[in-house]
Amino acid sequence: MSILITGGAGFIGSHTAVEFLNAGYDIVVVDNYCNSSPKALERIKEITGKDFRAYEVDLCDKEAFERVFVENPDIDSAIHFAGLKAVGESVQKPGLYYYNNLVSTLNLLELLAKYDAKRIVFSSSATVYGMPKTVPIREDFPLSTTNPYGETKLMIERILKDTWVADNDWSVSILRYFNPIGAHKSGLIGENPRGIPNNLLPYVAKVAAGQLPYLSVFGNDYDTKDGTGVRDYIHVVDLAQAHLKALKRAETVKGVEHFNVGTGTGYSVLEIVKAYEKATGLKVNYKIVDRRPGDIATCYADPEKAYTVLGWKAENDIDDMCRDLANWMKKNPNGYEGE
Ligand code: NAD
Ligand code: UFG
Repeated sequence: MSILITGGAGFIGSHTAVEFLNAGYDIVVVDNYCNSSPKALERIKEITGKDFRAYEVDLCDKEAFERVFVENPDIDSAIHFAGLKAVGESVQKPGLYYYNNLVSTLNLLELLAKYDAKRIVFSSSATVYGMPKTVPIREDFPLSTTNPYGETKLMIERILKDTWVADNDWSVSILRYFNPIGAHKSGLIGENPRGIPNNLLPYVAKVAAGQLPYLSVFGNDYDTKDGTGVRDYIHVVDLAQAHLKALKRAETVKGVEHFNVGTGTGYSVLEIVKAYEKATGLKVNYKIVDRRPGDIATCYADPEKAYTVLGWKAENDIDDMCRDLANWMKKNPNGYEGE
């Protein structure tokens, strides 16, 4: 049997593909490379020494997507990463985000049902908790969002629940990621942001590497330990392993389950700057600027449910995350395009 990995050339998908191949699974990757490079697939093969099937297909193109199922009748589950993920862009182009993220998911669910593969692990986000009243955040906290990207995650969570209500044969695992960073220890795969990065760690790494002059720290007047925003950063390989555990459980349990995937520890922006400097010996210049609209002060997970139900917990600490990101950056200063 095989696992369909949508968005498998992307940041989290590529690391998850490695963990599944290493665990002995056969995989089929589908990606349209709108935010990734097919070179990531070559690197996955290099790391694992294993070959796998891959298709350049847009999930919104139902006919082309169905051919993947016809040609691979052994697909019995999906790990669904494919989607657009830039919060700011989603505010500028809401139609694109609703269309891409929802149509791709609806097509996937229709095809999984048609080809009798009613098992899915879905990439949701801590963004569905909106502005949490307290931390750490538990899975039963109220849900809300502040931008179209987050809205697509909430809508897909609801679609998945309704899909199960209509047909109890489904196994659905919804993973709410906190802030994935880092890279594979080999330095062969990592995050490959196009243009100027939006997220903190890719930005810090480019400043340290001398590719950008300084980091803008978005506000130092939050009610946090040093006034800067606090987040729960998680190593992408730990996150990838959570998918293995989630799929194993979905192989035996039907229903819809939600899991926070974070470490349970929050770091401020300035703590991250220090950690990156310590891990690399490089200087990260920064300036304090105004708050970024829409940001919250503090966000970190209560990861207890993932531990008790899935037997998963994060193994890598912030130093590992910074070291592995720096290693990827050093080996690939221009991402996959630099080859
Ligand atoms: P990514 O952009 O690196 O990977 C997503 C992949 O999906 C890319 O390879 C892209 O080319 C592909 N894709 C997008 N639309 C597609 C379509 N219509 N058809 C085929 N392929 C398509 O992003 P990532 O960081 O690996 O994120 C993976 C998933 O996790 C996304 O759904 C994202 O929303 C979610 N997530 C990410 C974060 C984060 O901070 N990275 C946090 C929470 C949730
Ligand atoms: N930050 C800066 N300067 C920057 C970038 C970020 O100070 O140049 C700060 C932010 O204000 C925030 C922290 O660094 O306090 C983290 O910001 P990111 O943009 O890296 O991450 P967010 O927590 O804002 O959001 C990310 C993803 C969302 C996802 C969320 C939870 O971008 O899509 O994590 O998973 F929903």
